[in-house]
Amino acid sequence: IKRITTHSVRQMKVNGEKIAVLTGYDYSMARILDDAGIDIILVGDSAANVMAGYETTVPITLEEMMLHASAVVRAAKRALVVVDLPFGTYQGDSGDALKAAVRVMKETGAHAVKVEGGVEIHETVRRIVNAGIPVMGHLGLTPQSIYKFGTYTVRAKEEAEASKLKVDAKLLEEAGCFGVVLEKIPATLAAEVTASLAIPTIGIGAGPGCDGQVLVVHDMLGINKGFKPKFLRQYLNLYEAIGEAVGRYIRDVKASEFPSKDEQY
Ligand code: KIV
Ligand code: NA
Repeated sequence: IKRITTHSVRQMKVNGEKIAVLTGYDYSMARILDDAGIDIILVGDSAANVMAGYETTVPITLEEMMLHASAVVRAAKRALVVVDLPFGTYQGDSGDALKAAVRVMKETGAHAVKVEGGVEIHETVRRIVNAGIPVMGHLGLTPQSIYKFGTYTVRAKEEAEASKLKVDAKLLEEAGCFGVVLEKIPATLAAEVTASLAIPTIGIGAGPGCDGQVLVVHDMLGINKGFKPKFLRQYLNLYEAIGEAVGRYIRDVKASEFPSKDEQY
């Protein structure tokens, strides 16, 4: 199998081939995604929400992210593995940011890191890229700044925020990012940004004009009960399917119907 690289995703944009991205946090799920042919597995800090049960992505640590990343790397034979640098590891000193990125690359075997923000971090992005580490950007709704914005609603609807986002996207491209996630912004703005960049955009709640799409795997499989924003297409209802299977197992155990004669030694 030929490995997807930062170069091949860039080539996909040139060829007009859409890039399919899902998040992944553990070995077993990542194996399924990789076998199914996903292009990029994003070890998102959404792990804080869906794996650890935190309300925001703020608390997750670099060590926790690296545990998830190592497991995904062991499963991914074809997919490019991108790892979120968690809150607090890159917003300050760019030397510390580089150290965090180096640790992710050396200790997990991942292929790239992702960071949130534009002008605020573009020098840091440049420094990490100069060290030979591919970086993906993330603009629009940036969940690590939730306490600054106070809401998870659509971003950049106003002209001022939209102009800043366009400038930020250009800055990230100039700093050397190989791609940029656009989260929860108007579809027209996402399409405009996508057309203005040579690097691919990966949208989530950003309309069909992006070069690729990403969803949180727990959301698209319907594991995450009660989370159904407008942008989310739910391909399965695993919450119900798993609950039903577990219910049957409980009944079988209680009724002494499991294990059967064929299920013992
Ligand atoms: O952490 C995450 O899952 C993400 C994607 C939603 C882009 O950053
Ligand atoms: Na994230």
